[in-house]
Amino acid sequence: MRVRLNKFLADAGVCARRKADKLIEEGRVKVNGQPARVGMLIDPERDRVEVDGKLIKPQRKRYFVFNKPCCVLTQLGKDPRGRKTLDEFLKRIPERVYPVGRLDYNTTGLLILTNDGELAQRILHPRYKLPKVYIALVEGRVHPKTLKAMKKGTELEDGFAKPDDVRVIRYEGDDTRLEITFHEGRKHIVKRFLAKFGHKVKELHRIQIGPVKLGKLPPGKIREMTKAEVNQLKHAVGLKD
Ligand code: URA
Repeated sequence: MRVRLNKFLADAGVCARRKADKLIEEGRVKVNGQPARVGMLIDPERDRVEVDGKLIKPQRKRYFVFNKPCCVLTQLGKDPRGRKTLDEFLKRIPERVYPVGRLDYNTTGLLILTNDGELAQRILHPRYKLPKVYIALVEGRVHPKTLKAMKKGTELEDGFAKPDDVRVIRYEGDDTRLEITFHEGRKHIVKRFLAKFGHKVKELHRIQIGPVKLGKLPPGKIREMTKAEVNQLKHAVGLKD
């Protein structure tokens, strides 16, 4: 069966489709030794596809849920400063899977790892409005009036930000534990948003992305998503299998 070259590259975990078109335009992709064209169809069984001279083999798509512990960088490969990276946790997975978005070094919780470039792109794109749910422990007692103001949103230096939902779970001494949901993934969005209301984040933990829940997975552990979870996730971002 013939497939579009950009889809083949995304399915092989090279990059998302749009980025694949860019690679093709830049002349970095060859099919059977000839420069590829944007929009061309290939036969994955017969055609030889290369990116920057490297042969691309079709990969089995894999989908994982990872509970990122504190003090781990959301990146593959080594850190020049010797901090822990995802490499340490992915040793037993033969496919090259990528983190979908980033969690800060000190943020814990749900990180999706996959080699499905198309799905990854949609999980992150605000257009698909996939909610990401966080538990934040913040300094100070969040006043009901502040909570009301939070629900209306606020201007940050890179534009307006409004959570899909925010609620107090409980007060813990002088601190407050909140549940806050955003469907966008701007850098440090939760910390910057809460700081704008005078509440510094002490701990941040992500518990859910769309229909996928972290559940009781211990920190540092990784599990394969169930077929049902993958289907629900695809459905949530308008992808049918
Ligand atoms: N928002 C943040 O501020 N940090 C994260 O790690 C994720 C969302």
